[in-house]
Amino acid sequence: MSEKILVLDFGGQYNQLIARRVREQHVYAEIKPYNKISVDEIKGIGYKGIIFTGGPNSVYDELSPHYSADILNAGIPILGICYGCQLMAYMAGGEIRSAENGSEYGKTAVFTKENPLFKNVPYESVCWMSHTDYVKTPPENFKIIANTAKCPCAAMCDEKRKLYGVQFHPEVTHTEYGKEMLSNFLFEICGCKGEWKMDDFVEQSVEKYRVKLKDKKVLLALSGGVDSSVAAVLLHKAIGKNLTCVFVDHGLLRKDEGDFVEQTFREKFGLNLIRVNAEERFLNKLSGVADPEEKRKIIGEEFIRVFEDEAKKLGKINVLVQGTIYPDVIESGKGDSAVIKSHHNVGGLPDVISFDEIAEPLRDLFKDEVREAGTKLGIPCELVWRQPFPGPGLAVRVIGEITKEKLDILREADAIFRDEISKAGLEKSASQYFAVLTDSKTVGVMGDARTYGYTVALRAVTTDDFMTAEWTRLPYEVLEKSSSRITNEVKGISRVVYDITSKPPATVEWE
Ligand code: XMP
Repeated sequence: MSEKILVLDFGGQYNQLIARRVREQHVYAEIKPYNKISVDEIKGIGYKGIIFTGGPNSVYDELSPHYSADILNAGIPILGICYGCQLMAYMAGGEIRSAENGSEYGKTAVFTKENPLFKNVPYESVCWMSHTDYVKTPPENFKIIANTAKCPCAAMCDEKRKLYGVQFHPEVTHTEYGKEMLSNFLFEICGCKGEWKMDDFVEQSVEKYRVKLKDKKVLLALSGGVDSSVAAVLLHKAIGKNLTCVFVDHGLLRKDEGDFVEQTFREKFGLNLIRVNAEERFLNKLSGVADPEEKRKIIGEEFIRVFEDEAKKLGKINVLVQGTIYPDVIESGKGDSAVIKSHHNVGGLPDVISFDEIAEPLRDLFKDEVREAGTKLGIPCELVWRQPFPGPGLAVRVIGEITKEKLDILREADAIFRDEISKAGLEKSASQYFAVLTDSKTVGVMGDARTYGYTVALRAVTTDDFMTAEWTRLPYEVLEKSSSRITNEVKGISRVVYDITSKPPATVEWE
């Protein structure tokens, strides 16, 4: 990879967004925490430019993140954003102040001067501000190139050393000309060419693994989710039948999902696929268990056991594939936040299977880039744009004890709800939507007879990151149609409710 931009992370909430915005302009960007890379390493890698991210601190705080001022003389163009701008000013000898007249927050009119960073940006435009501190006096050799009503130095630069700082956030869409500014930094100031393309990534990866994994026996746990599907097709292109995919069907999938995954990968792509029908095994283990965390634990462990059994049959495995993506790489090592739900994934596999190495073909990609790669590889839309589905599957959507009968009822209700959303063309309006089988039975009336059946809850949420989510305002007509079809077509359900709780306080899944 020739051209790279470094996003030097000082703890800002938008660090991933900055990297994505850069990649959208076909320049590869990678994020590194400020305390994990030295000036010499940066110089050695040969980055075309550096972006200092924002951060929650004040440069004069003792604990605030700082960096060696040598970086300013490394001959690499730098763009400091928000805290990154203040830090640059501080490092170069400028003066930072806390706003006397209050923080500046939200959409703000900004006035820019003629400058390479503001090529094709009008004198007045809207930017997104979120700060309390500001650069009171820019360092020597820096000049002010933008201001707002409240902030006399909304942008500054030392054109000779190619050092630029903006107090506002060009990476958020509320900054009207943010895209142009980033583009100017990349192409006018850093001299990038913009050659990072998904086609090239796919081709280069296929070539790389063709050589690297030649004659090796490679194993992958295929779930039918986006990441494992893309990894599977990519590696299949590289090494064909030397890749074995094991798809553990735990019987907790949605209606027809197991068959769809099998058909797609075996028939369409010709993958060497082993489908393990382990429904009975999982249901036996789950019998009588009502506690959500207990269910997750059992499913996680059983998944590993089933996979292990299959792997043993295959003999010696050289390489195990993991569907790690870039946010996992960035997040790993971070985070001491409380465990709300112990998410099940295949992270436990390396401990139980003997193999020589791990391959992570997607570790440089963001989720939307994984989708783009999937599309380039010809994976069907239903899979590439599949909404997230929890590893423990419907087990966490059947409240209380799980039985085959309850799972079947839920599968039918869920399929109807998804069908109605799809018919109304609303698949993209909600980020995730599904049905939940509650453990409340209620009285109903059908014809002249009394019924006593389950209550189904419908849930749809809208979110970017699933950390917080809004309940989706689905049209009444869609809800009505779903409710009427579910009560009519699914035996055992007498009532349908719609979940109108956002996250927080509720989580997306009910368990
Ligand atoms: P919650 O319920 O925690 O869900 O608000 C956030 C997102 O994570 C998914 N989810 C899971 N995914 N294993 C997974 O792989 C799990 O155990 C699990 N629990 C929740 C959920 O569907 C939503 O997209």
